Amino acid sequence: MSVHIGAKKGDIAETILLPGDPLRAKWIAETFFENPICFNEVRGMYGYTGVYKGKRVSTMGSGMGIPSISIYANELIKEFGVKNLIRVGSAGSYQKHVKIRDIVLAMAASSTSGVNELRFGGADYAPTADFELFIKAVEAAKAKNIPIKAGNVLSSDEFYEDDIESYKKWSKFGVLCVEMEAAGLYTVAAKHNVSALAILTISDSLVTGEHTTSKERETTFKGMIEIALELA
Ligand code: ADE
Repeated sequence: MSVHIGAKKGDIAETILLPGDPLRAKWIAETFFENPICFNEVRGMYGYTGVYKGKRVSTMGSGMGIPSISIYANELIKEFGVKNLIRVGSAGSYQKHVKIRDIVLAMAASSTSGVNELRFGGADYAPTADFELFIKAVEAAKAKNIPIKAGNVLSSDEFYEDDIESYKKWSKFGVLCVEMEAAGLYTVAAKHNVSALAILTISDSLVTGEHTTSKERETTFKGMIEIALELA
């Protein structure tokens, strides 16, 4: 086992889907996997490996925020040999044309986090999605007739911003939506020369104030997972 993951070597597949919520990982395994086996319960951060369309695939919660996903991504890559890390999560829209329930592929992830500022001594690093995973996701969405949007997202360190108008600057510079993990995931993956992609479903809009209901989130989550599972 690693520091935070109670699995044995070989328990985790090369491709893993990472929702923020561990109960979503349980739901993904129970809904989509054949023979799901739980490999982690440490801190309630459930992780499962199973089979989807004949291919071995895993899913585990990442927790919320860049520090949490960075810890899990590091251990998954270094201790368990994971090669493809796919975040599947929700995001808040920063644009009028990005509507609730839309699916967004994060081509790049800007950030308000201090993590990369520390790492690169104040210089700007541009965390980006893996090109192959990105293209595969675009093709899978097309084949399934699921509309997608793609572009720059913001990985914020704050869910509850003091200044609720601050999104407008990012919006003006074309950022599509806000979430809290992609920049961390992309940076850790790049550091270890493996692949990462964040697929996001819009759950709320900072532009209109709309929110999806929990029932709607479940249905829209399904489309995103179907795209993500094709990357295994
Ligand atoms: N995830 C979903 N909605 C969000 C928001 N408004 N801010 C940050 N992360 C989010």
